[in-house]
Amino acid sequence: MRLQGRTAIITGAGSGIGRASAKLFAEEGAHVALVDRDAAGLQEILKLVGEGTTHVGDVGDAAFADAVVNDLLERHGRLDILMTAAGFSCGGTVLTTSPDDWDAVFRTNVGGTWLWARAAVPHMQRQNSGSIITLASQLAMAGGKGNSAYIAAKGAIVSLTRTMAVDFATDGIRVNAIAPGAIDTPMLRRSFARHANSDEVREASRNRHAMKRFGRAEEIAQTALHLASDASSFTTGTVMVVDGGWLAA
Ligand SMILES: NC(=O)c1ccc[n+]([C@@H]2O[C@H](COP(=O)([O-])OP(=O)(O)OC[C@H]3O[C@@H](n4cnc5c(N)ncnc54)[C@H](O)[C@@H]3O)[C@@H](O)[C@H]2O)c1
Repeated sequence: MRLQGRTAIITGAGSGIGRASAKLFAEEGAHVALVDRDAAGLQEILKLVGEGTTHVGDVGDAAFADAVVNDLLERHGRLDILMTAAGFSCGGTVLTTSPDDWDAVFRTNVGGTWLWARAAVPHMQRQNSGSIITLASQLAMAGGKGNSAYIAAKGAIVSLTRTMAVDFATDGIRVNAIAPGAIDTPMLRRSFARHANSDEVREASRNRHAMKRFGRAEEIAQTALHLASDASSFTTGTVMVVDGGWLAA
């Protein structure tokens, strides 16, 4: 087991990529703290993993991040892995995105990365070890249509990941981003449903990948496991693109 005895906080664990990663981390021996604003989703993943704690709240809330980190430390005395998978997209160009929607997207995606790293890093520094895994998107590099706040937020996550990697590299903390292609999760299905011609948009997205298919959350979880484990001990400040050939095509 590749994470035996390690502890992990996974935000967005109630669905999709966070959920698949939490399940895999637990199967590999980690104690997991499962974070989401969706209480029902957390109960489902808790049933799948068996042992773990659930924490319902908004990842944009600094006090919530501190409380979850402190709870894990009280239970297990260490924090090895932080995966910030909670994410949210509203769609729209800069002309059609409201200031409130813009703020909400940045609060969850960027705030939900920054505030959780801010809570976790001091403890990882004390241990002189830790792995932080953030969620960007292939769209941060490729751009994309009608999703300006989300794509800007994912670009910010790439930059934030690199700067944190440099700031904490000599503290034994590795920080890496995963940039998935389109992964078949509730978020992706919701984003297609926003379009009047959703079938057409879905097929165009599928075919935009060189592999002509969507990814599975479990495939992203395998990359997260690699970044969480000692197998990636010399990897920091990277963006691991897992996109079925989207950027290459
Ligand atoms: N699915 C894709 O195609 C894709 C592609 C690239 C990147 N990503 C990124 O991967 C991550 C996971 O996405 P997913 O597809 O699994 O989405 P998902 O909607 O299936 O899961 C996201 C989870 O985050 C939770 N969440 C959202 N906002 C929150 C908040 N403010 N506080 C607490 N919890 C919150 C949701 O309740 C949900 O359970 C996101 O950061 C997303 O941007 C997804």
